Amino acid sequence: MASLKLKTSIKRLFGEITIPGDKSISHRSVMFGSIAHGETKITNFLPGDDCLSTISCFRKLGVTIEEADNQIRIIGNGFEGLTEPNEVLDVGNSGTTIRLLMGILAGRPFFSTLVGDESIGKRPMTRVTGPLAKMGAKIDGRKDGAFTPISIRGGQLTPIQYKLPVASAQVKSALILAALQAEGESTIIEPAETRDHTERMIRKFGGEIDKDNQAITVKGGQNLTGATIHVPGDISSAAFFLVAGAIIPESEIVLKNVGLNPTRTGIIEVMKKMGADLEIIQKEDHSFEPVGDLIIKTSNLKATVVEGDLIPKLIDEIPIIALLATQAEGTTVIKDAEELKVKETNRIDTVVDELRKLGASIEATDDGMVIHGKTQLNGGSVSSHGDHRIGMMLSIAALLCRNNVELEQPEAISVSYPNFFAHLNNLIR
Ligand code: S3P
Repeated sequence: MASLKLKTSIKRLFGEITIPGDKSISHRSVMFGSIAHGETKITNFLPGDDCLSTISCFRKLGVTIEEADNQIRIIGNGFEGLTEPNEVLDVGNSGTTIRLLMGILAGRPFFSTLVGDESIGKRPMTRVTGPLAKMGAKIDGRKDGAFTPISIRGGQLTPIQYKLPVASAQVKSALILAALQAEGESTIIEPAETRDHTERMIRKFGGEIDKDNQAITVKGGQNLTGATIHVPGDISSAAFFLVAGAIIPESEIVLKNVGLNPTRTGIIEVMKKMGADLEIIQKEDHSFEPVGDLIIKTSNLKATVVEGDLIPKLIDEIPIIALLATQAEGTTVIKDAEELKVKETNRIDTVVDELRKLGASIEATDDGMVIHGKTQLNGGSVSSHGDHRIGMMLSIAALLCRNNVELEQPEAISVSYPNFFAHLNNLIR
């Protein structure tokens, strides 16, 4: 797609939107449906490019997956039901697909090759290939298993006792999926708590997993049974509208159906600390993942420090938090976030470079960024760099700009939020 002229100088945002399905949970529901026995039905599935890559990979592994109107039906035949793919498995832009899939394929007695796009080709895989090789998988890739293409010949795995070197839900989940196929009990220790959708989903599919502080214990040889999953809205998608509502004058936005898993709600904590006028209407928790509605109004914001164990609970929200900080009084510091460098883009660089083009006062540090507020944003030509969250953050930033804003590579947004612009346009008054 050519560049997109973004809406600027918006007076007000007002109305209600229903947030689309959570990306992390959508991926996992397809994966668990594929390795469980029997039928799995998924509603409110996110039809974003990343989750469609997951479906395509599991179809190539021989799983029957029907798809219509954001509803998915899967017939699983257990781990044993997966068959050697005739083709290369292409994960597109999706880190969650490739990393979790490696954990599943590590225990399967056949050969497969995993590839992805240019961004995936730069993302570190040793954090997964290393421990999976220790468990006994024959796994390799470019630069000694560090980068795609990755090849795997799986087989019988031995359990692992492993302390993760980085707080990463993708690495933790890959090891849990491998541990489910190992002979015996594995223990995985996280340095800080990360999103726990995999753990919740194992229980939902009838399996067992124990958690004692940050130590997770999982037994091999478990049989999982198909389940009915309703995917809650993605708080990482809601985050763009939470920030938009807080920074655009005279706004009020109701966000319906937002997943409120406490391992994901760091953005709410930070916004509250910054003084946001944010109301949470928590629904009764009947489902396996807590859900609620959020109401955000224009807010008087003050700077804050975002650091430490909070970082994994808002890692994907840092680009939009950086924009929020440009509209807060004082200097906001984001630290302990070096993981940003290995996301879809180096998000320290892309956030700092692109927000500067619009007139923000922001500097990169080794492990985060420093933002001085409050600044008037002007306008200019910016790029998503092929990163969905950078594209959405810049589209929200443009609303405040007094001059024109052109966004290069807007199509990246469909990775996690295909109807983002439709939702945004509905709110513009
Ligand atoms: C995800 C985990 C996070 C996050 C990504 C989705 C997941 O990555 O950034 O968007 O679904 O497990 P890391 O585990 O690499 O931090």
